[in-house]
Amino acid sequence: MDSSEHESALREVEEEVRRCRRCRLARTRRRAVPGEGRPDADIMFVGEAPGGEEDAQGRPFVGAAGRLLTNLLRSIGVDREQVFITNIVKCRPPGNRDPLPEEIEACNEYLLTQIALIKPKIICALGRFAAQTLIAKNLSISREHGKPRRMSGILYIPIFHPAAALHQARYVDALEADFRALRGILDGELKRERTGGDD
Ligand code: URA
Ligand code: SF4
Repeated sequence: MDSSEHESALREVEEEVRRCRRCRLARTRRRAVPGEGRPDADIMFVGEAPGGEEDAQGRPFVGAAGRLLTNLLRSIGVDREQVFITNIVKCRPPGNRDPLPEEIEACNEYLLTQIALIKPKIICALGRFAAQTLIAKNLSISREHGKPRRMSGILYIPIFHPAAALHQARYVDALEADFRALRGILDGELKRERTGGDD
C-alpha cells in the first residue's frame, strides 16, 4: 500500500466510525470521535472513550484531560501532531459512564484496523479499560503502569489515565514518571531501529 492508499484507508475508517450505529452509544452521541494524528505515527495513544468536549467537537482528548496529555507530551519533547490519538470506544457513553463490555467489543474492529494501518512502534494504553482491552484482560494498572510489554512486534505501555491526575493529586507524580519512562523507551526503540534490532 503506498502512502496515499494508506491515508485513504484510514479516512475510510474515520468515515465509517462517523456513520456507525453498531452499538447503543450511537443513539446518545453528538459526534463520533474516530481519532486523529499522523497516519504513520511511531506512537499511538489509546484512551477510554470521548467525554463531553470530545463529543461536541468530534475530536479526541480536547477537554481538560486532553490539555494535560498535550502538556505531558510536550514535557518529553513530543508534539501532539507527531502521534496518533484515539480511544477504544469512539462514541461518548452518556454521563461519562464506563463503557460496557459489549460496546468495547462492538467498537474494537475500528481500533484494530487503525493499528494495522498506522503500524506504530509503541502503543500507550491510557487507563484501565484501554490497558485491559489492548494488553491483558486482568491487567492491574496500579501494578503495571509504565512497564512495557512487546507483543507482535509492538511495544505496549500501560499508563495511568490523565483524567485520574485531574481528580486525584496522588496520580500526578506517577503520570509524570510514566511519561519520563516513555521518553526512555522511545529513545531505546529509535536507537534499536538505527542499529537494526529485530526481536
Ligand atoms: N478521556 C478519554 O479517555 N478520551 C478522550 O478522548 C477524552 C477523555
Ligand atoms: Fe459504532 Fe463504536 Fe460508536 Fe458504538 S461506540 S456506535 S461501535 S463507533
